[in-house]
Amino acid sequence: MKQKLFQELARAGLLGAAAIMSLTATAENRTHVLSSDKTSLAVTTNDGGQAYFQYFGPTIKDTDIAGFFGVGSNFTGHTLPQFGLHSSGEKMLAVVMPDGTMSTDLVMETMERTTDEKGELLTLVFKDKVYPLTVKQYVRKYADSDVFSTWIDITNTGKKGNIKLLNFASACIPVARLDNWLTQFHGSWGCETGMTETELPNGQTVIADKAGLRNAFGTNPGFMISLDGKPAENRGEVLGFNLLWSGNYKTKILADNGSIDIIGGINEDTSAITLKPGECLSTPEFAMVYSDEGKGGVSRAFHKWGRKYGMTHGDKLHDVLLNSWEGVYFDVNQEVMDQMMGDIAALGGELFVMDDGWFGDKHPRNGGSAGLGDWMVNKKKLPEGIKGLTEAAKKHGIKFGIWIEPEMANTKSELFEEHPDWVLSQKNRPLSCGRGDTQVVLDLCNPKVQDFVFDVTDNLMKENPEIAYIKWDCNSDIMNYNSPYLPAERQSEIYVRYHQGLHKVLDRIRAKYPDLVIQLCASGGGRADYGLLPWFDEFWTSDNTDALQRIYIQWGDSHFYPAIAQASHVSASPNHQTRREVPIKFRFDVAMSGRLGMEIQPKNMTDAEKEFAKRAIQAYKEIRPVVQFGNQYRLVSPYDKGPVAALMYADEKKDNVVVFAYRIEYLNGQNIPNLRLDGVDPDKNYRIHDLTPADPKRPSRLDGKVVSGRILKNAGINIGSSLGRPFTSVALSLTAE
Ligand code: GLA
Repeated sequence: MKQKLFQELARAGLLGAAAIMSLTATAENRTHVLSSDKTSLAVTTNDGGQAYFQYFGPTIKDTDIAGFFGVGSNFTGHTLPQFGLHSSGEKMLAVVMPDGTMSTDLVMETMERTTDEKGELLTLVFKDKVYPLTVKQYVRKYADSDVFSTWIDITNTGKKGNIKLLNFASACIPVARLDNWLTQFHGSWGCETGMTETELPNGQTVIADKAGLRNAFGTNPGFMISLDGKPAENRGEVLGFNLLWSGNYKTKILADNGSIDIIGGINEDTSAITLKPGECLSTPEFAMVYSDEGKGGVSRAFHKWGRKYGMTHGDKLHDVLLNSWEGVYFDVNQEVMDQMMGDIAALGGELFVMDDGWFGDKHPRNGGSAGLGDWMVNKKKLPEGIKGLTEAAKKHGIKFGIWIEPEMANTKSELFEEHPDWVLSQKNRPLSCGRGDTQVVLDLCNPKVQDFVFDVTDNLMKENPEIAYIKWDCNSDIMNYNSPYLPAERQSEIYVRYHQGLHKVLDRIRAKYPDLVIQLCASGGGRADYGLLPWFDEFWTSDNTDALQRIYIQWGDSHFYPAIAQASHVSASPNHQTRREVPIKFRFDVAMSGRLGMEIQPKNMTDAEKEFAKRAIQAYKEIRPVVQFGNQYRLVSPYDKGPVAALMYADEKKDNVVVFAYRIEYLNGQNIPNLRLDGVDPDKNYRIHDLTPADPKRPSRLDGKVVSGRILKNAGINIGSSLGRPFTSVALSLTAE
């Protein structure tokens, strides 16, 4: 075994105390090894009713673990560290019992290993020795995946008396203290998911969010920790972690010279939860991957898992679409929508999405300050209603989609006039408003509001069953922290109860409309997380559509989220966010590395741009299965600050490969090294095809060449001649012969 990530702890003091406890099912030490093809995770219980994460690394056999317990002891691997009794420091769980006691003393009563449709599951049931508190701890290995996860359910099993939860993390994971580096992602509007890579310092490093609704804008919940120095893409030992929660989260990385503990879960700051008798809090899953194929290995495991378990329709090809936002902003009307539909259909697109601006009667939505909540068509703009649009889509032979922001209201809306108590607001203070100085957040803690939000989608779909796609937006954080619905003693629970309410709504929508495609948007990539993605088909990666900056944003997102989930749109030049002028080929080559779409008024494109767009969309359709379902290999990082960034995709058998390379910096005389294609099969020969030549009569010099995989991998291809100017790029497909 190269590295033992989880090693045994069995501290003598703990065992000594525990040995006195009366035990039933755990009279013997037991180790359960959950294994995928590449990875094993071992959990051991001792005869004191305690459980330990003991190993997480390359696959081992059950027999390998025998005798492991009690051998090593250099760091703590208790699966459920608790506050107040046995030791000090940061803990997963801290509660206040009905009599004010602030400790727990949990002993495992049973451990069960079961299999369900998602894979294997260990369920460890802990009970407090004195108080009516049960904690079920789960450890899952997903079927056909290298992703493991763990979480807990906390239940007040008493008949009277409340238990207050102060700390309620999902997981405490021990990691070997070696030459560890931390890769994390941070950003804000228009520059989401920027990557930072540093040596992991001793002390506490916190990765957290407290925005309330858009938990991926600031810091993304996904992060990686290496075990053997600065992480590389395709070699070295790296662990990846991600919390599957849509609300505030907090992961504490506690490192010293001898150990690392990672405590991750819902952010408990200002969020104490009261459990009445019989009530249970289910914490979100903390997902983890071990790879000895570097960061790329971790990403590929998360992508594969994401397509299967972490999103909706990850196994169905996603359409090429035109979204109206950057084309016309709020100025939608029947005529212009019809024109845009005709244009995208002519370019080979398959879907048109009408963005913001279509609704509001008494308070028409002509800008950001009115109409949210009034989801009825603005008859002045759209006299034929949505029917007129779905009919137009039918006429052009494409599908139709529509934008909504159903968790929100404007104070200038009929909804707010009728139900001022449906928004998060404080009795004795004026409302703080967001976008347009009038935007407020609906109180999803309230079941009536949950019904309203469900009805927004349900009514749209009942009246217009032809709607194939919904863009679900969320353009606010939580302000006015108070739920008019929740009682005073539950106000600290809003950050959690809001999301539980939202999840209930989404469950109902998905149960009724399983085929509907829904995009997750939050002012761009504010919700690029696995907390909500399970109900959605993709996320809007960023409101910044500048192709150069998108290379960085998409690079960051690709560490955890698959290309099929990343909406990547070609927009106008100069770009509306950065004013940068970038050729159409570069814009397409960047967008084609994700779920390709357009965000532009096609009417304003030149004939040459349209001709190129048509060819590029056609080419994308050919390589779409490889990009959307394939394995991704990041080849040259834009963060390396060289002249080029590059990535590739390969299908499972490595028969079909797609390569993208971009000139991101231009200085005279800069050397462009050969591009080595890590993801090809050395034993196959590949025919190279230039997917998007600027001039079809003059494709790349590489076009038509047949090259052995071994050469492609070891020597690489010379892309220098294709990338000789600023903002040049190349998109190649390689097919095994
Ligand atoms: C947000 C989204 C944009 C667009 C606008 C509409 O900013 O990220 O794509 O939908 O809202 O108001």
